[in-house]
Amino acid sequence: MVASYKIFNDAMASDSRLISNLLISDQCKGVFEGLTSLMDVGGGTGTVARAIANTFLSLKCIVLDLPHVIGDQKGTGNLEFVAGSMFDKIPHANAVLLKWILHNWSDHDCVKLLKRCKESIPSKERGGKVIIIDIVMDDNSISSSNEQLVEAQHMMDFIMRITYASKERTKKEWEKLFLDAGFTEYKIITSLGLRSLIEIYP
Ligand SMILES: C[S@@+](CC[C@H](N)C(=O)[O-])C[C@H]1O[C@@H](n2cnc3c(N)ncnc32)[C@H](O)[C@@H]1O
Repeated sequence: MVASYKIFNDAMASDSRLISNLLISDQCKGVFEGLTSLMDVGGGTGTVARAIANTFLSLKCIVLDLPHVIGDQKGTGNLEFVAGSMFDKIPHANAVLLKWILHNWSDHDCVKLLKRCKESIPSKERGGKVIIIDIVMDDNSISSSNEQLVEAQHMMDFIMRITYASKERTKKEWEKLFLDAGFTEYKIITSLGLRSLIEIYP
């Protein structure tokens, strides 16, 4: 029998293959240019980090996830795997990536995690930032153009509420989390379909 976490990890990797192509496209790659190291927190089996590492050869990409997810995965070249909990210390890096992480945690846990991220990156002046990929509800650029995307966002919101007692967040709710965690500024860089690419700065 296949363990349920294996099915989950495979599903995440499949979603990550779609998003990776967008992340390394001209539309998004500026987000990673100039960085020296990137910590993909909760990065699963490393699909996104691998694509970024293969595109930006001088960028060291590290995947942090729980020991049973990291398993015996080995890094290669500029890709590394680290087993541990993101709620403990996050190893230092120039930037942190949180793809599809925050939406299944409560506000309290998100603030705790974002504070951990802030401790692990340098100041904004030295290039420190957290890159978030998650849904922004009520984003006008989406709602005006595609009803099906909005429906899918509401479906995800429903799933988060019944499964994790969490939720998808509006721009105002995101802003409050960022400020509560001590970040000073944020920017919604672009829409990635259902989700948005957001940068936050210490
Ligand atoms: C929704 S998945 C997203 C995976 C990946 N970022 C992606 O988008 O494909 C959430 C990930 O967070 C990881 N995770 C959950 N709790 C964690 C913890 N305390 N420390 C590190 N990773 C954790 C899970 O193992 C899982 O890989």
